[in-house]
Amino acid sequence: MASEIPNHIAIIMDGNGRWAERRGRPRVFGHVRGSGRVKAIVEVASRLGVKALTLYAFSTENWSRPESERLVLWKLLKKYLIRDAEQLHRQNVKLRVIGETDRLDADIRAVLDPVVQKLTSNTGLQLTFAISYGSRREMVYAAKKFAEECLAGRAHPDELNEVLMEEYLWTSDFGDLSEVDLFIRTSGEQRISNFLLWQAAYAEFIFTDICWPDFEPKDLESAIQEYARRERRFGGVGKGLPERPHRNIFA
Ligand code: IPE
Ligand code: IPE
Ligand code: MG
Repeated sequence: MASEIPNHIAIIMDGNGRWAERRGRPRVFGHVRGSGRVKAIVEVASRLGVKALTLYAFSTENWSRPESERLVLWKLLKKYLIRDAEQLHRQNVKLRVIGETDRLDADIRAVLDPVVQKLTSNTGLQLTFAISYGSRREMVYAAKKFAEECLAGRAHPDELNEVLMEEYLWTSDFGDLSEVDLFIRTSGEQRISNFLLWQAAYAEFIFTDICWPDFEPKDLESAIQEYARRERRFGGVGKGLPERPHRNIFA
């Protein structure tokens, strides 16, 4: 059995647009409702003792969306940060952002950076927003950085292994928590969409039909219950099955 509470939960908050369209409303209405869901999910994760929660807010591929939609997403991000920073601080939440944050406009950085700074020494839930994030991009950066270290004579290709590789990823300062235990995607889509490909190599996946604007704390709790029933094997043989007398199946 998996241990009861996953250390690191990653969520693809998907389905805002469809949620709104089904109600005859513009897609951005779904983003408004969706952004309002984050607070309660952070609260419950923190209360349950989850150590890290990583939320996919905007992918490298989402830059292809119409500018009008992107502007609404940035506005909502800023609103969330301004409105909730104080409460996150009281909850002892540490905040991080992973992704190509240098692509974000200065006005977003002007809100984001001070909040990240303010919460940086907190020791409770490690909340991370993946913004302008793409796993492939992350790995390309890692490869480039390592190559540069080699060229500068500070590293050698022979040294590279899985542990060292992690030091070059955007999640390097997650330490032991970089490994995703439970990976949730809302809205019924069953794909990874370039999220945490390295870190989720052995995650348990839960795909729920609920769209993000309807995703409630009880849905996170039931995903955690399902996670607790899973058997994580990590390539081994597992403990769930009774030992059988060995027979030579090739005889
Ligand atoms: C997720 O909802 C939010 C972001 C990608 C920013 P979508 O906007 O992808 O909603 P659907 O998938 O089109 O319903
Ligand atoms: C993934 O959702 C990105 C976020 C939720 C931020 P998308 O809606 O962009 O993914 P695809 O395009 O359906 O794969
Ligand atoms: Mg989507």
